[in-house]
Amino acid sequence: MNSLLGQHILSVEQFDRDTITHIFSVADQMLPYAKREKRTTVLNGAILGNLFFEPSTRTRVSFGTAFNLLGGFVRETTGIGTSALAKGESLYDTARVLSGYSDIIAMRHPDSGSVNEFSNGSRVPVVNGGDGANEHPTQALLDLYTIRKELNSHDSDLDGMHIAMIGDLRHGRTVHSLSKLLCLFKNIHFTLISPAELTMPDSVLDVITNAGHQFRITDSLEGQFDADICYQTRIQEERFPSQEEANKYRGKFRLDQEIYTRHFKSKTVIMHPLPRDSRADANELDNDLNANPNLAIFRQTDNGVLVRMALFALILGVENKLKQYEHNVPWYAAHKD
Ligand code: NCD
Repeated sequence: MNSLLGQHILSVEQFDRDTITHIFSVADQMLPYAKREKRTTVLNGAILGNLFFEPSTRTRVSFGTAFNLLGGFVRETTGIGTSALAKGESLYDTARVLSGYSDIIAMRHPDSGSVNEFSNGSRVPVVNGGDGANEHPTQALLDLYTIRKELNSHDSDLDGMHIAMIGDLRHGRTVHSLSKLLCLFKNIHFTLISPAELTMPDSVLDVITNAGHQFRITDSLEGQFDADICYQTRIQEERFPSQEEANKYRGKFRLDQEIYTRHFKSKTVIMHPLPRDSRADANELDNDLNANPNLAIFRQTDNGVLVRMALFALILGVENKLKQYEHNVPWYAAHKD
Protein backbone atom coordinates (compact mmCIF):
# COMPACT_ATOMS: atom_id res chain seq x y z
CA MET A 1 0.00 0.00 0.00
CA ASN A 2 1.29 3.42 -0.96
CA SER A 3 -0.07 5.85 1.63
CA LEU A 4 1.65 8.83 -0.02
CA LEU A 5 -0.18 8.64 -3.36
CA GLY A 6 -1.47 12.13 -4.21
CA GLN A 7 -0.60 13.45 -0.72
CA HIS A 8 0.94 16.76 0.37
CA ILE A 9 4.11 16.45 2.47
CA LEU A 10 3.78 19.25 5.01
CA SER A 11 5.06 17.92 8.34
CA VAL A 12 6.91 14.89 9.67
CA GLU A 13 3.97 14.35 11.99
CA GLN A 14 2.13 12.71 9.09
CA PHE A 15 4.58 9.77 8.96
CA ASP A 16 4.57 6.47 10.79
CA ARG A 17 7.34 3.87 10.89
CA ASP A 18 5.87 1.76 8.09
CA THR A 19 5.68 4.75 5.74
CA ILE A 20 9.29 5.65 6.52
CA THR A 21 10.42 2.08 5.86
CA HIS A 22 8.61 2.18 2.53
CA ILE A 23 10.13 5.58 1.53
CA PHE A 24 13.62 4.30 2.41
CA SER A 25 13.24 1.09 0.42
CA VAL A 26 12.17 3.11 -2.64
CA ALA A 27 15.10 5.50 -1.99
CA ASP A 28 17.49 2.51 -2.03
CA GLN A 29 16.18 1.60 -5.50
CA MET A 30 17.08 5.09 -6.77
CA LEU A 31 20.83 4.62 -6.29
CA PRO A 32 21.65 3.26 -9.81
CA TYR A 33 19.81 6.25 -11.36
CA ALA A 34 21.50 8.81 -9.12
CA LYS A 35 24.86 7.19 -9.87
CA ARG A 36 24.05 7.28 -13.60
CA GLU A 37 24.50 3.53 -14.03
CA LYS A 38 20.99 3.52 -15.54
CA ARG A 39 18.41 6.14 -16.29
CA THR A 40 14.65 6.08 -16.01
CA THR A 41 12.11 8.27 -17.80
CA VAL A 42 9.14 7.22 -15.71
CA LEU A 43 8.11 10.86 -15.16
CA ASN A 44 8.68 11.95 -18.77
CA GLY A 45 6.27 14.82 -19.40
CA ALA A 46 5.52 15.55 -15.74
CA ILE A 47 6.23 19.07 -14.45
CA LEU A 48 7.57 20.05 -11.03
CA GLY A 49 6.85 23.62 -9.93
CA ASN A 50 9.89 24.39 -7.76
CA LEU A 51 9.03 27.53 -5.77
CA PHE A 52 11.75 28.87 -3.53
CA PHE A 53 10.85 32.12 -1.81
CA GLU A 54 13.88 31.94 0.51
CA PRO A 55 17.60 31.35 -0.18
CA SER A 56 18.50 27.76 -0.99
CA THR A 57 21.19 25.85 -2.84
CA ARG A 58 20.98 22.12 -2.11
CA THR A 59 17.30 21.79 -1.27
CA ARG A 60 16.18 23.63 -4.41
CA VAL A 61 18.69 21.97 -6.73
CA SER A 62 18.24 18.50 -5.27
CA PHE A 63 14.44 18.70 -5.65
CA GLY A 64 14.98 19.70 -9.29
CA THR A 65 17.68 17.09 -9.87
CA ALA A 66 15.55 14.36 -8.29
CA PHE A 67 12.68 15.20 -10.63
CA ASN A 68 15.00 15.37 -13.67
CA LEU A 69 16.54 12.00 -12.74
CA LEU A 70 13.05 10.49 -12.99
CA GLY A 71 12.66 12.03 -16.44
CA GLY A 72 10.45 14.99 -15.44
CA PHE A 73 10.69 18.70 -16.21
CA VAL A 74 11.32 21.45 -13.67
CA ARG A 75 9.93 24.99 -13.73
CA GLU A 76 11.42 27.27 -11.10
CA THR A 77 10.38 30.45 -9.35
CA THR A 78 12.90 31.94 -6.93
CA GLY A 79 12.55 34.98 -4.67
CA ILE A 80 9.43 36.75 -3.49
CA GLY A 81 10.62 39.96 -5.18
CA THR A 82 10.31 38.46 -8.66
CA SER A 83 6.90 36.84 -8.07
CA ALA A 84 3.38 38.31 -7.85
CA LEU A 85 3.53 37.80 -4.05
CA ALA A 86 5.41 41.13 -4.13
CA LYS A 87 2.24 42.70 -5.65
CA GLY A 88 0.12 41.48 -2.75
CA GLU A 89 -1.15 38.26 -4.27
CA SER A 90 -2.22 35.73 -1.61
CA LEU A 91 -0.61 32.33 -1.21
CA TYR A 92 -4.00 30.82 -2.02
CA ASP A 93 -4.21 32.58 -5.41
CA THR A 94 -0.60 31.83 -6.29
CA ALA A 95 -1.21 28.17 -5.44
CA ARG A 96 -4.43 28.05 -7.45
CA VAL A 97 -2.63 29.46 -10.51
CA LEU A 98 0.67 27.58 -10.34
CA SER A 99 -0.97 24.24 -9.60
CA GLY A 100 -2.61 24.61 -13.00
CA TYR A 101 0.86 24.58 -14.55
CA SER A 102 2.39 21.67 -12.61
CA ASP A 103 1.84 18.05 -11.60
CA ILE A 104 3.49 18.57 -8.21
CA ILE A 105 4.96 21.54 -6.36
CA ALA A 106 7.91 21.89 -3.97
CA MET A 107 7.91 25.09 -1.98
CA ARG A 108 10.03 27.00 0.54
CA HIS A 109 8.86 30.20 2.22
CA PRO A 110 10.12 32.31 5.17
CA ASP A 111 6.87 32.14 7.19
CA SER A 112 5.85 29.26 9.49
CA GLY A 113 2.63 27.68 8.24
CA SER A 114 2.93 29.28 4.77
CA VAL A 115 3.35 26.02 2.87
CA ASN A 116 0.31 24.63 4.65
CA GLU A 117 -1.68 27.71 3.66
CA PHE A 118 -0.42 27.41 0.08
CA SER A 119 -1.45 23.75 -0.08
CA ASN A 120 -5.07 24.77 0.63
CA GLY A 121 -5.17 26.54 -2.73
CA SER A 122 -3.23 23.91 -4.66
CA ARG A 123 -4.84 21.40 -6.96
CA VAL A 124 -1.70 19.22 -6.99
CA PRO A 125 0.42 17.72 -4.17
CA VAL A 126 2.70 20.19 -2.37
CA VAL A 127 5.99 19.23 -0.70
CA ASN A 128 7.29 21.48 2.07
CA GLY A 129 10.89 22.53 1.37
CA GLY A 130 11.02 24.53 4.63
CA ASP A 131 8.48 26.96 6.13
CA GLY A 132 10.18 29.52 8.35
CA ALA A 133 11.43 28.09 11.63
CA ASN A 134 8.67 25.48 11.62
CA GLU A 135 9.45 22.32 9.63
CA HIS A 136 11.66 20.83 6.93
CA PRO A 137 10.24 17.32 6.49
CA THR A 138 12.30 16.19 3.49
CA GLN A 139 15.54 17.23 5.24
CA ALA A 140 14.47 15.22 8.28
CA LEU A 141 13.84 12.19 6.08
CA LEU A 142 17.22 12.46 4.38
CA ASP A 143 18.89 12.98 7.77
CA LEU A 144 17.15 9.91 9.17
CA TYR A 145 18.04 7.89 6.05
CA THR A 146 21.67 8.96 6.53
CA ILE A 147 21.68 8.20 10.26
CA ARG A 148 20.28 4.73 9.62
CA LYS A 149 22.92 4.01 6.93
CA GLU A 150 25.79 5.33 9.05
CA LEU A 151 24.68 3.42 12.15
CA ASN A 152 24.14 0.23 10.16
CA SER A 153 27.72 0.49 8.92
CA HIS A 154 28.74 0.51 12.62
CA ASP A 155 26.50 -2.52 13.33
CA SER A 156 23.98 -0.48 15.29
CA ASP A 157 20.53 0.92 14.56
CA LEU A 158 18.11 3.76 15.22
CA ASP A 159 16.40 2.25 18.26
CA GLY A 160 18.35 3.15 21.40
CA MET A 161 20.61 5.70 19.76
CA HIS A 162 21.97 8.92 21.28
CA ILE A 163 22.03 12.16 19.28
CA ALA A 164 23.65 15.44 20.31
CA MET A 165 22.20 18.50 18.58
CA ILE A 166 24.25 21.68 18.73
CA GLY A 167 23.64 25.36 17.95
CA ASP A 168 20.52 27.33 17.15
CA LEU A 169 17.90 24.80 18.20
CA ARG A 170 15.26 27.49 18.59
CA HIS A 171 15.12 28.65 14.97
CA GLY A 172 16.52 25.58 13.20
CA ARG A 173 13.64 23.87 11.40
CA THR A 174 15.82 20.87 10.51
CA VAL A 175 16.33 19.94 14.18
CA HIS A 176 12.63 20.45 14.90
CA SER A 177 11.59 18.04 12.15
CA LEU A 178 14.36 15.53 12.83
CA SER A 179 13.62 15.40 16.58
CA LYS A 180 9.94 14.73 15.95
CA LEU A 181 10.73 12.07 13.36
CA LEU A 182 13.17 10.30 15.71
CA CYS A 183 10.36 10.05 18.26
CA LEU A 184 8.86 7.27 16.13
CA PHE A 185 11.76 5.05 17.16
CA LYS A 186 12.50 3.46 20.55
CA ASN A 187 14.45 4.79 23.50
CA ILE A 188 16.18 7.77 21.84
CA HIS A 189 18.51 9.95 23.96
CA PHE A 190 18.77 13.61 23.01
CA THR A 191 21.48 15.96 24.27
CA LEU A 192 20.48 19.49 23.28
CA ILE A 193 23.42 21.90 23.37
CA SER A 194 22.61 25.57 22.72
CA PRO A 195 22.86 29.02 24.26
CA ALA A 196 20.07 29.38 26.85
CA GLU A 197 18.21 31.83 24.57
CA LEU A 198 18.27 29.38 21.64
CA THR A 199 16.98 26.19 23.26
CA MET A 200 14.66 23.73 21.53
CA PRO A 201 11.03 25.02 21.57
CA ASP A 202 8.69 23.52 24.15
CA SER A 203 6.42 22.24 21.39
CA VAL A 204 9.21 19.89 20.23
CA LEU A 205 10.28 18.97 23.78
CA ASP A 206 6.68 18.01 24.48
CA VAL A 207 6.68 15.61 21.53
CA ILE A 208 9.93 14.04 22.83
CA THR A 209 8.54 13.68 26.37
CA ASN A 210 5.14 12.39 25.28
CA ALA A 211 6.83 9.71 23.18
CA GLY A 212 8.77 8.57 26.27
CA HIS A 213 12.28 9.58 25.19
CA GLN A 214 14.94 11.27 27.31
CA PHE A 215 16.57 14.63 26.76
CA ARG A 216 19.22 16.69 28.51
CA ILE A 217 19.60 20.42 27.89
CA THR A 218 22.93 22.17 28.36
CA ASP A 219 24.50 25.45 27.28
CA SER A 220 28.05 24.18 27.34
CA LEU A 221 30.11 21.87 25.22
CA GLU A 222 31.96 20.51 28.24
CA GLY A 223 32.76 16.95 29.15
CA GLN A 224 32.38 13.72 27.24
CA PHE A 225 29.30 13.15 25.07
CA ASP A 226 28.45 9.52 24.54
CA ALA A 227 26.62 10.41 21.31
CA ASP A 228 26.35 8.20 18.22
CA ILE A 229 25.46 11.26 16.13
CA CYS A 230 26.63 14.83 16.54
CA TYR A 231 24.29 17.12 14.56
CA GLN A 232 25.75 20.63 14.25
CA THR A 233 23.69 23.60 13.00
CA ARG A 234 24.15 27.18 11.81
CA ILE A 235 22.94 30.23 13.74
CA GLN A 236 19.81 31.05 11.68
CA GLU A 237 20.70 34.75 11.41
CA GLU A 238 17.79 35.48 9.04
CA ARG A 239 15.34 34.65 11.87
CA PHE A 240 16.80 37.19 14.36
CA PRO A 241 15.43 40.72 14.75
CA SER A 242 18.86 42.18 13.87
CA GLN A 243 22.30 41.13 12.73
CA GLU A 244 23.77 42.36 16.05
CA GLU A 245 21.45 40.01 17.92
CA ALA A 246 22.55 37.04 15.78
CA ASN A 247 26.22 38.02 16.16
CA LYS A 248 26.00 37.41 19.91
CA TYR A 249 25.77 33.68 19.24
CA ARG A 250 27.92 33.24 16.15
CA GLY A 251 30.96 31.07 16.74
CA LYS A 252 29.83 29.94 20.22
CA PHE A 253 29.86 26.23 19.47
CA ARG A 254 32.60 25.47 17.01
CA LEU A 255 33.54 21.94 16.09
CA ASP A 256 36.98 21.14 14.78
CA GLN A 257 39.05 17.95 14.93
CA GLU A 258 40.57 18.79 18.30
CA ILE A 259 37.23 19.64 19.96
CA TYR A 260 35.62 16.58 18.38
CA THR A 261 38.36 14.28 19.70
CA ARG A 262 38.02 15.81 23.18
CA HIS A 263 34.23 15.48 23.51
CA PHE A 264 33.04 12.69 21.24
CA LYS A 265 33.62 8.98 20.63
CA SER A 266 35.99 7.94 17.84
CA LYS A 267 32.98 6.65 15.86
CA THR A 268 30.57 9.57 16.43
CA VAL A 269 29.05 10.52 13.08
CA ILE A 270 29.23 14.26 12.31
CA MET A 271 26.25 15.75 10.52
CA HIS A 272 25.05 19.23 9.53
CA PRO A 273 22.12 20.13 7.25
CA LEU A 274 24.40 22.68 5.53
CA PRO A 275 25.24 25.35 4.58
CA ARG A 276 28.01 25.49 7.19
CA ASP A 277 28.90 29.10 7.86
CA SER A 278 32.58 29.19 6.93
CA ARG A 279 33.15 32.84 7.82
CA ALA A 280 35.91 33.19 10.42
CA ASP A 281 33.62 34.53 13.17
CA ALA A 282 31.25 31.55 12.81
CA ASN A 283 33.08 28.51 11.42
CA GLU A 284 30.86 26.05 13.25
CA LEU A 285 32.28 23.03 11.40
CA ASP A 286 35.94 23.45 10.60
CA ASN A 287 37.49 22.36 7.30
CA ASP A 288 40.02 20.32 9.26
CA LEU A 289 37.21 17.76 9.70
CA ASN A 290 36.97 17.24 5.94
CA ALA A 291 39.38 14.30 6.10
CA ASN A 292 37.54 12.69 9.02
CA PRO A 293 35.73 9.56 7.75
CA ASN A 294 32.91 10.20 10.24
CA LEU A 295 32.03 13.49 8.56
CA ALA A 296 28.77 12.54 6.80
CA ILE A 297 27.72 15.98 5.50
CA PHE A 298 28.26 15.21 1.84
CA ARG A 299 26.73 11.77 2.19
CA GLN A 300 23.67 13.62 3.55
CA THR A 301 23.50 15.82 0.43
CA ASP A 302 23.84 12.82 -1.89
CA ASN A 303 21.18 10.93 0.07
CA GLY A 304 18.86 13.94 -0.28
CA VAL A 305 18.47 13.22 -3.99
CA LEU A 306 17.55 9.55 -3.35
CA VAL A 307 14.97 10.44 -0.72
CA ARG A 308 13.39 13.21 -2.82
CA MET A 309 13.26 10.87 -5.84
CA ALA A 310 11.48 8.31 -3.65
CA LEU A 311 8.95 10.89 -2.45
CA PHE A 312 8.18 12.06 -6.00
CA ALA A 313 7.82 8.46 -7.21
CA LEU A 314 5.47 7.56 -4.34
CA ILE A 315 3.36 10.73 -4.45
CA LEU A 316 2.92 10.35 -8.22
CA GLY A 317 2.41 6.58 -7.98
CA VAL A 318 5.23 5.36 -10.23
CA GLU A 319 7.36 3.56 -7.62
CA ASN A 320 6.73 0.18 -9.27
CA LYS A 321 7.31 1.39 -12.85
CA LEU A 322 10.92 2.59 -12.63
CA LYS A 323 12.36 -0.41 -14.47
CA GLN A 324 9.69 -0.41 -17.16
CA TYR A 325 11.01 2.99 -18.30
CA GLU A 326 14.69 2.20 -17.81
CA HIS A 327 17.42 3.03 -20.35
CA ASN A 328 21.18 2.62 -20.67
CA VAL A 329 23.44 5.61 -20.08
CA PRO A 330 25.53 6.18 -23.21
CA TRP A 331 27.77 8.99 -21.89
CA TYR A 332 30.81 8.82 -19.61
CA ALA A 333 29.46 8.77 -16.06
CA ALA A 334 32.01 9.84 -13.46
CA HIS A 335 32.20 7.86 -10.23
CA LYS A 336 30.93 10.17 -7.54
CA ASP A 337 31.84 8.09 -4.47
C1 NCD B 1 18.73 24.28 6.28
C2 NCD B 1 17.47 25.09 6.08
O1 NCD B 1 17.32 25.80 5.11
O2 NCD B 1 16.64 24.95 6.98
N1 NCD B 1 19.42 23.97 5.12
C3 NCD B 1 18.94 23.02 4.26
O3 NCD B 1 17.81 23.04 3.83
N2 NCD B 1 19.78 22.05 3.92
C4 NCD B 1 19.58 24.76 7.40
C5 NCD B 1 20.20 26.12 7.33
O4 NCD B 1 19.93 26.92 6.44
O5 NCD B 1 21.03 26.41 8.23
